[in-house]
Parts: sequence; C-alpha cells; structure tokens
Amino acid sequence: MAGVPSIASAAEFLGSTADIKDFEGGVADDEKYWKNIAKKYYVVSKDYINLENGYYGIQPKPVLQAFEKNILLANREGARFARKVYPELSSTIKKELATFLQVSPDEIIITRNATEALNIAIQGYPFQPGDEVLLNQLDYFSMIEAFRMLEKRGRIRVNAFELPLLPANEDEIVELYRQQITDKTKVILLTHVSNINGLIIPVAKIAAMARQKGVDTITDSAHALGQVPFSLPALGSDFVGMNLHKWIGNPIGAGVLYIKNERVKEMSMLFGDVNTAEDNISKLAHFGTTPFAVMMTIPDSLAFHKLMGIEKVSQRLHYLKSIWINELEKVSTVEIVTPKNLSCAIASFRIKDKKVAEVADYLYKQHNILTVNRSLGKDGCIRITPAVYTSAEEMMQFVGAVKEYAE
Ligand SMILES: Cc1ncc(COP(=O)(O)O)c(C=O)c1O
Repeated sequence: MAGVPSIASAAEFLGSTADIKDFEGGVADDEKYWKNIAKKYYVVSKDYINLENGYYGIQPKPVLQAFEKNILLANREGARFARKVYPELSSTIKKELATFLQVSPDEIIITRNATEALNIAIQGYPFQPGDEVLLNQLDYFSMIEAFRMLEKRGRIRVNAFELPLLPANEDEIVELYRQQITDKTKVILLTHVSNINGLIIPVAKIAAMARQKGVDTITDSAHALGQVPFSLPALGSDFVGMNLHKWIGNPIGAGVLYIKNERVKEMSMLFGDVNTAEDNISKLAHFGTTPFAVMMTIPDSLAFHKLMGIEKVSQRLHYLKSIWINELEKVSTVEIVTPKNLSCAIASFRIKDKKVAEVADYLYKQHNILTVNRSLGKDGCIRITPAVYTSAEEMMQFVGAVKEYAE
C-alpha cells in the first residue's frame, strides 16, 4: 500500500470491500451520504443508540473482514507464521503507520494501547530530582496516576491546576499553561482532546511556548488521532502517545508512541532491554508476544480512514455534536460543559439538581440511549459521543429524551 498516499490507492488497497464512489461528496449535513456510509460499511446493533463511541470505535466492515482473515491466518499458521513471516510484515506495517503519521519509522513504536505508549514515555523520561510536571483536572486519569506514582517514588513533584471548562479561545488556554510554569517545570502533560468534556487544546501553540522556556511536553493524543485533523510533526511535541482503536477503527489492541528521533537516546526502558542500541527506539518495545491479527489489520484501518477522509469525518462529528448542543443550550436547567467551537465529536453536559449517574441511567433504561457519566468537580458530567454512523435523527431523539427529563 506504500503508505496510502492517495484516496485512490486506499480504495485500491481495500479492493472489492469498498467502492470509491461511495466516498464522493459527503458534506457534514448530507444525511443521505452518511446514511449510505452507515448502511454499507458499518454493522451496528440497532436495539440501542450508541452515544458512547468515545470508549472504542466500531470497525468498519472492510476492516472487520480483514481482521477475521488475519485471525484465521495467524491461528492456522502458528509459530511458522510468527517466526518466518511476521517479522518482515511487522516492519512493513510500521512503515505504513509512520507514513500515515508523517514521521519516520525510527520515531515510532507500535504498542497495545495509548496507556502503554504514554507510560513508556512518562516512566522513561529522564527526570532529575526536583523536576516538576504540570497537569490539570481534564487530563486522562491513567496518565495523572502514572505521574502521581513517580511523585510517590520521589522522582518528581506534580503541579496540578484547574483548567476552566469553557475557555473562550486557544490563546486563553496557552496563557493559562504559561502562567503555571515555574523554574522547576520540566514536562507538561497535554491531553489533546479531553476524554471528560472533549475540549481540544492547542497543543502546537502550548508546545512552542513551553519549548521557549526549556520545558518538554508529553502529549496524549488518544482521542485526537482520527477524530481531529492534525499533523504530528507540526505539533512540536517530542513525545506523543495515541491509539488506533478509538477513531482509526482498528481492532482493539493497537497504540503508537512517537518520540522525536534525537530524544530516543535519553529515554530509559520500561521493559528490560540491554542489547538494543541506545538511540534505537525499538529498545522501548520489548513487550513480548503481540496480538498479530490486530497489528496486521493496521494497514486496512488506515486505508479505510484515508478513504473516509479526516476533514470530512471531523466535520460530520462536529456537526452531530452541534445538533444537540444547539438545542440543549436553550434549556435553562441544562449546563453544557464543553465549548462548542473548541471540541469535535465529544461534548458533555449536566442537569441542574440531577445526579449525572441517574441521568445516564434514565437515558439508557427509558430511551435505549447509551451515554456515560464522568467525574468532573463535585457534580460530574454526562459525556456524549456520536460516531460517523450516528444519524441526525438519533441526535434529536437524544435531545428529546433530555428535554423530557430536564424541563
Ligand atoms: C484521553 C485519553 N487518553 C488515554 C486513553 C487510554 O487509551 P487506551 O485505552 O488505548 O490505553 C483514553 C481512553 O479512553 C483517553 O480517553
């Protein structure tokens, strides 16, 4: 597939499982287009409305078919496959992924998820005694815990601050981070798209500001890759962890860690490895047996995502999010805790004087609408995440259900 340079080559790669004509057009509010995509390319349960697509992405049919083939192949061939075929295949997969991410294969390792990728970066970073790490309440809890663990071990000090839920613009966010930097700050944790309220932070601007002060950024792009357009090199963050099973649509069990080439040497290993050269990123990937079929499907999920087009996907998700926010922001008892224009698919809300767990329960039990409540301050919030196969009609069913409860 040579890095899926074009939509045509992505379609060619997917062969008869995808028809390039289905992907022509597709503006955000073209229900006919998106209904056709949903019908032809996704098999999803019809007995509930899934607005919890932030957990993991449903694999499109061509990807699922490739995955099924790969499972059968790996199982049938056994060790011969793992020993004789997979090593070369795995380096091709890595090259495909690197091309997709616009970086060198020497700058990435394929992990099993974003948590693993980011723990390798966080725990391998060359902290010195007295170093501080800056993070906030909208960061992902596993990464906060990884830094808190290092703090407990006496390696760093955590400086946690509160980010406002509704910043007015990107510059306000950059300024808030800037104000928190002290002369001890060594690293800032940046959660590119918050899993709590979907806030998209301006990673490139914060990373550039931090660099000027000699501060590194470790970026958690678990929810950004495939949901919002960005160029990995242009982020300017030397350490970025992502996964492929949320918005890229790969089978569950694939993540990626990017480390800028010249930074690899100073990183220490989470998984023991004394034989690989210090400047070789593979020294960080000594995991043991890998889920072969999941990894082998990566080129297919990248190709399908390329065919869909990140701009189109992102605009559609933004549109679906706007449908519900535009309606519910008019309801006086509903509080939207996400800035509409600094978010994409994910956004959150709460209802005055109602417990978020009870609201989520009501939506599921009374209306078959799956959402999830998240911790956020003392009140929490309910997170809403549509996917490309979600219809405008389903968003309005959700709006109706919330209004019934809130008004
Ligand atoms: C912001 C963020 N970071 C990291 C993760 C962890 O991703 P994974 O499950 O691939 O480890 C998640 C998962 O929901 C997330 O939302």
